[in-house]
Amino acid sequence: MTRIGLYPGTFDPLTYGHLDIMTRASRICDKLVIGVAENSGKSPMFSLNERLEIIQEQMALVSQKHGLENEILVQSFTGLLTDFSEKIGASFIIRGLRAVSDFEYEFQMASANRRLKENLETVFLTASEHQHFVASSLVKEIAKFGGDISSFVPPEVEARIQLYFRP
Ligand code: PNS
Repeated sequence: MTRIGLYPGTFDPLTYGHLDIMTRASRICDKLVIGVAENSGKSPMFSLNERLEIIQEQMALVSQKHGLENEILVQSFTGLLTDFSEKIGASFIIRGLRAVSDFEYEFQMASANRRLKENLETVFLTASEHQHFVASSLVKEIAKFGGDISSFVPPEVEARIQLYFRP
């Protein structure tokens, strides 16, 4: 049986924290699907296509660097995560946990998803020590005011963010 793990998120923008979770997640399932939520309600900085492109580009680099052998797919989704998980045949959802402040939101989401789809488990990976406070919203705010974001996001992502704020 192929165990498919689904790592969902908005990834706006993709951070080193996300890449760390993606790398480790790919080692605990046979196939990893990175589910990119359209999330138009959040008015994302990058379009869905840009986010897909960025993740594909960065995961290719990371896979090569870490010699990741399992299949990794990047797919967009709209609507309920539980419906998407059903469509791709996911065995479980993977989410990253940073600080205690993440816990309530994640607990609520995992519980709601399990209520909607009884056998759908959520597996949490704790963020690596040097990434534990990195959040996309924080990166956006720092970049907006001209701060240095190079330790939070890969150089290619940094360049796209700079272009967004200072075209
Ligand atoms: O990276 P994020 O923004 O924390 O990811 C949140 C995401 C996309 C995983 C969540 O908003 C989601 O699952 N959206 C799809 C709609 C849905 O199923 N909502 C109910 C979740 S309980």
